[in-house]
Amino acid sequence: MRAIRIDRFGSPEVLDLVEDRRPLPGPGEVLVRTVATGINPVDDKTREGAIGEGTPPLPLTLGWDLAGVVVDGGTSQLRAGDRVFAMSHQLDTARGTWADLVALPAEAVALAPRTVSLVEAATLPLPGLTALQTLDWLAVSAGERLLVAGAAGAVGGLALQIARARGVAVDALVSRDGQAAFVREHGAGLVSTDPAAFGGRRYDAVFDTFGAFVTEAVADGGRYASIATQAGPVPDLSARGVRTTVHQVREDGAGLAELARLVDEGALRPRVHATYGLHRIGEAHERFREGGLTGKIVVTF
Ligand SMILES: NC(=O)c1ccc[n+]([C@@H]2O[C@H](COP(=O)([O-])OP(=O)(O)OC[C@H]3O[C@@H](n4cnc5c(N)ncnc54)[C@H](OP(=O)(O)O)[C@@H]3O)[C@@H](O)[C@H]2O)c1
Repeated sequence: MRAIRIDRFGSPEVLDLVEDRRPLPGPGEVLVRTVATGINPVDDKTREGAIGEGTPPLPLTLGWDLAGVVVDGGTSQLRAGDRVFAMSHQLDTARGTWADLVALPAEAVALAPRTVSLVEAATLPLPGLTALQTLDWLAVSAGERLLVAGAAGAVGGLALQIARARGVAVDALVSRDGQAAFVREHGAGLVSTDPAAFGGRRYDAVFDTFGAFVTEAVADGGRYASIATQAGPVPDLSARGVRTTVHQVREDGAGLAELARLVDEGALRPRVHATYGLHRIGEAHERFREGGLTGKIVVTF
């Protein structure tokens, strides 16, 4: 089977399309044939060597996300032929999804949304689980006010939509005026490129996707979650009674099932910027690095 591996760190040129051994699913695992996968910032950082400590030893198959078809459901409820999607915590397990066949714990896999293609489903696992798990930590409920910093990005765009589906009032900090239409269309109220527009400590919760640290936005007694690990911890706001965290995503089949439900109910819309065949993986990475995207870069098998 084919896999995308690196045996050294560097530019997209280090990405190699290789022949690899077919994985043998262990107890409790499911074997999936990959149809599509997405490129996430962590893949780019891993390839470059920017993760540092915590990167599994080389050579390494990259990739966190997949959408595909079950080949062997093992002892799980899943059956051969089921359409599924999954997130593999590739840095923890060295189990990359950029391969024709991937064996994963059944608990990390869920039935894909019925109403979208597997290409669209492949945009969801890592960004969607990050959005869902962080919103759950923030515990924002209907009628509360949430600020999403980076609301037009992959994680931010899904967080905005999930929060709106939960009846939360969402404002949006974006990087460019061109992103305003997208976030307004998905129900954002106040939209600005200026962090100062969100002062006054009036938000019950802040979801920070890029290390904006807009701490003057959060109300006393509120919650502030960042996912920007590389930006370091959120400043200590305990004197104001604000709880803070830097959330780390985890494998979560139940979370994926929740994302699938939201998609099928029309509350969550996947976004594909462009699709590349596996043999164009280098080009796909170059496009990802250029930025200015309106959705995910998807790679098809
Ligand atoms: N901790 C975890 O478990 C976890 C999980 C997933 C992701 N992450 C991290 O979270 C970050 C976001 O991931 P993602 O997939 O959502 O990336 P993304 O799609 O690139 O989204 C980031 C968004 O933030 C915007 N942004 C960046 N700098 C900004 C600024 N100064 N002002 C306003 N907006 C700004 C970007 O705008 P432009 O497009 O204009 O740059 C983009 O819309 C990445 O660093 C990723 O590694 C962490």
